[in-house]
Amino acid sequence: EKAGFDHFMLKEIHEQPKAYRDTMMSRVSEDGKSVDLKELGMSSDYIKSIRKVQIVACGTAFHAGLVGKTVIETLARIPVETDVASEYRYRSPIITPDTLVIVVSQSGETADTLAALREAQRNGAKVLAITNVVGSSVAREADFVLITWAGLEIAVASTKAYTSQLIAFYLFGLHLASTLGTQNASAVAEVIAAMHQLPDQVESILAKSDVLKKVAESISHHKHLFFIGRGIDYAVAQEGSLKLKEISYIHSEAYAAGELKHGTLALIEESIPVIALVTQEELYEKTLSNIKEVKARGAHVLGVANEGFEEEAGKSVDELFVIPKTLPLLSPALSVVPLQLISYYASLALEHDVDKPRNLAKSVTVE
Ligand code: M6R
Repeated sequence: EKAGFDHFMLKEIHEQPKAYRDTMMSRVSEDGKSVDLKELGMSSDYIKSIRKVQIVACGTAFHAGLVGKTVIETLARIPVETDVASEYRYRSPIITPDTLVIVVSQSGETADTLAALREAQRNGAKVLAITNVVGSSVAREADFVLITWAGLEIAVASTKAYTSQLIAFYLFGLHLASTLGTQNASAVAEVIAAMHQLPDQVESILAKSDVLKKVAESISHHKHLFFIGRGIDYAVAQEGSLKLKEISYIHSEAYAAGELKHGTLALIEESIPVIALVTQEELYEKTLSNIKEVKARGAHVLGVANEGFEEEAGKSVDELFVIPKTLPLLSPALSVVPLQLISYYASLALEHDVDKPRNLAKSVTVE
């Protein structure tokens, strides 16, 4: 059932192009220019009444929610907060009837996420569930459901569920934007056209797995490393760091690149690996100057940058992995893939149980 792959995780990483297509399918109009989410049963009047969005989730789903915040704020101009579910419940969040709460959960059974959903509804808010399991607890209790069609995910480390959650956020963000008129038809069509290219672009990254295997093998000799990025690159950095910790047991931290000099720079020493995401055009120069800061202290930097910027980025890093060009908002759907593969190959090099890392379960149904 691993379809020729050594592990479920690797199989699931390779299933991402299909998961993207399946999650988009039938939700994009025939002419490919608009998004159709009538399946949600969310009225235009309700959408127009939303004043605030709170995204609540755990682990990797929380990281998808960090990207979701930027997606919704950029496309629909509604303020968004993203919270870890186990924190949300106990911080007396301000939940009003004009708050839309979005819970994100692959399994739809995570206890803290389910409790957050109930808390939101108790306070009069409506809840949208983004989940991969039809009929799960979260899907049954939410007011609106957006299924990610990633298919069964078996490896404890979430990969295709995360990227399908990103696709769900893009679709929902576009749906809000079209209803609210915050983006015109051509802007919406431009995002959709770029989304349609993502599956092939992921394939082209997968085809370069060998390079990432080598990177992972050299990383596997280290005890600590850092991921850095700005904006949504920072959100992806956090996901890359969690993935690596979860299955390779190597200690890593993700930092907003501009925060390094406020403390973390003290930890940078000779030859420490730093993985730097540089995909946001507006932030290129700023991130490059942060890369210079770590390199000046001896760090070995792997840059993940997009096409069109390889020459400039290449001058500042020790190694460069180039991902295809897409819209800045969509880049997480590509840039996370090399990070998933690096974690996979690092875990493999260290001979860990890739699909079943120690101390962890696929679904956390206790609080
Ligand atoms: O099923 P859920 O999406 O609610 O699960 C949330 C987290 O437990 C999960 O994403 C976890 O962080 C993954 N093992 C990370 O790879």
